[in-house]
Amino acid sequence: MSTHSTGPAPYPRAEVSPPSGELFPHKHLLGIWGLDPTAIKHLLDTADGYAEQNRQAKKSTDKCEGLTQINLFFENSTRTLMSFEIAGKRLGMEVTSMSTGTSSIKKGETLLDTAATLNAMRPDVLVMRHADSGAVKLLSEKMDCAVINAGDGRSEHPTQALLDALTIRRRKGRIHGQTIVISGDVAHSRVARSNIYLLNAMGARVRLVAPSTLLPKDVDRLGVEICHRMEEGLEGADVVMMLRLQQERMQGAFLPSLREYYQFWGLTHEKLKYAKEDVLVMHPGPMNRGVEISSDVADDLDRSAIEEQVEMGVAVRMACLDILTRGLREEDGQ
Ligand code: CP
Repeated sequence: MSTHSTGPAPYPRAEVSPPSGELFPHKHLLGIWGLDPTAIKHLLDTADGYAEQNRQAKKSTDKCEGLTQINLFFENSTRTLMSFEIAGKRLGMEVTSMSTGTSSIKKGETLLDTAATLNAMRPDVLVMRHADSGAVKLLSEKMDCAVINAGDGRSEHPTQALLDALTIRRRKGRIHGQTIVISGDVAHSRVARSNIYLLNAMGARVRLVAPSTLLPKDVDRLGVEICHRMEEGLEGADVVMMLRLQQERMQGAFLPSLREYYQFWGLTHEKLKYAKEDVLVMHPGPMNRGVEISSDVADDLDRSAIEEQVEMGVAVRMACLDILTRGLREEDGQ
């Protein structure tokens, strides 16, 4: 994993913090929608501290000792699941990841009965991913503990947007005023939606570059610029986020062929010439190399922040777990 020490200094943090409840007055993290810039900044500032701690030899604390975290993933994951497990353990939590494939869900138990069962075990945090938009919110209404959305359908993936924002802020020094291009399969992407909400809230200029078949139906209400040609869309970009083509969520024909998609929409060094010289390339992963991005661009350490995004994922998830359990720890006098 590359650890880029060059670039602007980390964003300055406030020296004296008010109680966290004033800065993040929410029980759950279900989406970026509904968070104000103060809450987003508080999460990013806290994560920045963990990013530094994670680069030390000793990475763990006992801050959340005695608390229990359950990870409940109904869809596959490498980055989000592993980083939530590592994040909880680095904070001293007991972390259990339920294997949905071998659970009683396979015997027909409903999502709400599963929620009631897990709730009876008294976890302090539940992290959930589900294929249906709104499933995580539904479950949060049945749980006594904090619930974190690790991705629900096409709706939101808030911790991905936060780790993307932290990566941009550390590399570029700020989010406000940056021209950020989000390109590819926006229609099926919860990552894109959470990023659009966050980047707009923090004052970035967001431009979507995609064929019209891969834009969401409500795109006109998202407060973004839209381009249908890569060369035009990349003009003046400070950051370009490429999105995975989510063929598992596509019903019907959205594309002519993968080869043509790459020709028109795949990010190559040739197309990247239209962006600013110091453009930062991002991808939430997993990547389809040779479909939405060339290997040369993905592996170009001068441009690509893809590994750093993964690194920031652990820091952001530590910040989310820390902030959402702070009330519990304050009750216990910790
Ligand atoms: N970016 C992301 O959510 O990756 P995983 O599906 O591997 O968690």
